[in-house]
Amino acid sequence: MRKKRIMALLAACMLAWSAAACGGSGGSGTQTSDDADTGEAVAEESADAAEEELELSEAALNHADDGEEIIGISMPAEHLPRWNWDGNYLKQNFEDAGYTVDIRWADNKIDTQQQDIHDLVNDGVDILLIAAVKGTELTEVLEEAKACDIPVIAYDRIIDSDSVDYYVSFDNDMVGQLEGEHIRDGLDLDNAGDKVYHMEIVSGDSNDKNADGYYYGAMGVLQPYLDSGVVEVLSGETGYSETETFQWSTEKANERMTGIIASYYADEPLDAVLCANDTAALGVAQAIESSYSGGNTVLLTGQDGDVDNLKNIMDGKQSMTVYKCLPHETKAMYDVTVAFMNGEEIDESLIEKSGWDFDVVFADDRYSNGTNYMKSFLLTPVTVTKDNLVEELVDTGFYKMNDDGTFEVVD
Ligand code: BGC
Repeated sequence: MRKKRIMALLAACMLAWSAAACGGSGGSGTQTSDDADTGEAVAEESADAAEEELELSEAALNHADDGEEIIGISMPAEHLPRWNWDGNYLKQNFEDAGYTVDIRWADNKIDTQQQDIHDLVNDGVDILLIAAVKGTELTEVLEEAKACDIPVIAYDRIIDSDSVDYYVSFDNDMVGQLEGEHIRDGLDLDNAGDKVYHMEIVSGDSNDKNADGYYYGAMGVLQPYLDSGVVEVLSGETGYSETETFQWSTEKANERMTGIIASYYADEPLDAVLCANDTAALGVAQAIESSYSGGNTVLLTGQDGDVDNLKNIMDGKQSMTVYKCLPHETKAMYDVTVAFMNGEEIDESLIEKSGWDFDVVFADDRYSNGTNYMKSFLLTPVTVTKDNLVEELVDTGFYKMNDDGTFEVVD
């Protein structure tokens, strides 16, 4: 216990205290006994605060010297297809390479993830890989990682914390842009003449900063058509927060779209729904199927390539998904992590060294952790429609298409 307290004090010194507050003798001035008393009192008070705030274990403080290389992974939710896949792929591959893996799933709850990260740090992990539930709510707990010199790589979702120096993801703005372009080209908005098209917007969860990129990326393409009146949103709900979908939930998207269809599209055509991702798109497709009586096919966007959505695309219930190849994203994450663990420089040269045969760019001026730009590896997403689905996803071996038209991810 005593040791833990002293170690916590040391860590707190590293973190924020001035040399004087730590009572050190490293300064150039001569220390009087009064100064020493004051210093001791301040140190005593700060030590209590540090214990309260940081609660660092011996394992956390000694992680680098314990002879083990432990990868700590914190994922948002095990029940959502994409995070389940990413988490298990990473775990398996690190274990195959001889690392110990400690993985936690947060059930999409912010406080669970904070606790998970606190526990991972205190269990003595050597690096933290985090896909955040809410990227702005991890700042405090990540101070613990910083105090213990545990590097953090943000996976897929941006995190606001200067403890995070690296980011591996897809180009989030481009995801939105591809969704917007699909609607622009699908409705041929540039040649609309006097025709007015009706569109509704289903954004992601604003707790997730990626959702900003998707919304603004798409609206960058579509806003001019709203401004010129070629596209109208009859519900009037066009802003980011009024169109958001809590936890990207299928049920919430379904509920909102069912209400909108009943209120605005009983007698008017609905031409398109700009929908941020596949889980929400499932709910929108159900709402269209059960409540929309217009005879037209409604363009409906999504992202991820979740298996149920691929079936919907083949059945004409969703018109596209932005495919973000998880095997590539997780491979990039794996290689960046291993390079870091081996003490290699993390920069553009890693792309060639790792032999990545997919489109990816290195950027250190695109995505910020709130204080600094993170060194980011950004993969390129692709639009998948009924026309190229088999070629892009099945022929490449990522998915298997069953005889009944359902899809399975090939592991
Ligand atoms: C991811 C998407 C995913 C969404 C909901 C986002 O941060 O980038 O791929 O659909 O979260 O899980």
